Amino acid sequence: MDLSYMKPLLEQAAAEGKALGSFTVWALDVCQAVVEAANLCKRPAILMAGKIEARYAGGVKNIVRLAKLAAENSDMPIALHLDHAEEYGFIREAVDSGFTSVMIDASAKSFSENVERTGAVVEYAHRAGVTVEAELGRIGGVEGNIDVRDEDAFQTDPDEARQFVEKTGIDALAVGIGSVHGVYPFPPNLNIPRLKNIRNATAIPLVLHGGTGIPVEQIRASIKNGISKINVCTELLITYGQSMTKTQSAGGFRYSVPNLFAPSKQALKELFCMRIGQFGRE
Ligand code: 13P
Repeated sequence: MDLSYMKPLLEQAAAEGKALGSFTVWALDVCQAVVEAANLCKRPAILMAGKIEARYAGGVKNIVRLAKLAAENSDMPIALHLDHAEEYGFIREAVDSGFTSVMIDASAKSFSENVERTGAVVEYAHRAGVTVEAELGRIGGVEGNIDVRDEDAFQTDPDEARQFVEKTGIDALAVGIGSVHGVYPFPPNLNIPRLKNIRNATAIPLVLHGGTGIPVEQIRASIKNGISKINVCTELLITYGQSMTKTQSAGGFRYSVPNLFAPSKQALKELFCMRIGQFGRE
């Protein structure tokens, strides 16, 4: 199956009271693990890469190639999303290369500059049918090239969210409701009352970043109140790395490529199945 646009998948998930998992990918085996898990769970899924994963893979075109290869025999729809991109030129390159969804992150700018930068991306991406996600408020934490300190993080204002969606024409909104990128420095405590107010202010699918480490009951509450896409990265890296270390230090490894990588791919696949199942339950 060819890669799917993200907007209809999110709208379908929202109509069913479910969310889709969006998982960071950087190599073919990771893309395959997501697609295999999606097919096992009979749910769509989103492959996601940011600037550093694209650079690691040798550029955005290579991420598209990896995603297409992994998705070609999939029975479930698979979208390819560009995560947290700040530069217009880079986003255009991703759109032109075959990403089916892009995120413009101008959340560090003023409201009006965020509107302006996001609107320009919407205009370009929508001409190609590509879905656009943007962020309002500022999600804190450290992960990859994201580094937002506590004092710079702030939650999304519902009234601004309504205006932002109307002015920009985006398809999905990443909200600040207390989630954090990376490993949580404190117990996660999502601001569900604020999420409810954002949901009442705008009807478009909402996105939860910082999926690693959020307890399942808070995940469920967020989906019930408008979250249709949940981004997960850090726990994949932890799982993959721990599996490689364990395999390498166990007897019988014998410098074999499948001996080293197959258990790590399997560990990721089990994690994806677990998350896709959690997010896709009614
Ligand atoms: P985590 O790394 O905390 O899972 O967050 C991923 C994310 O939100 C990427 O945009």
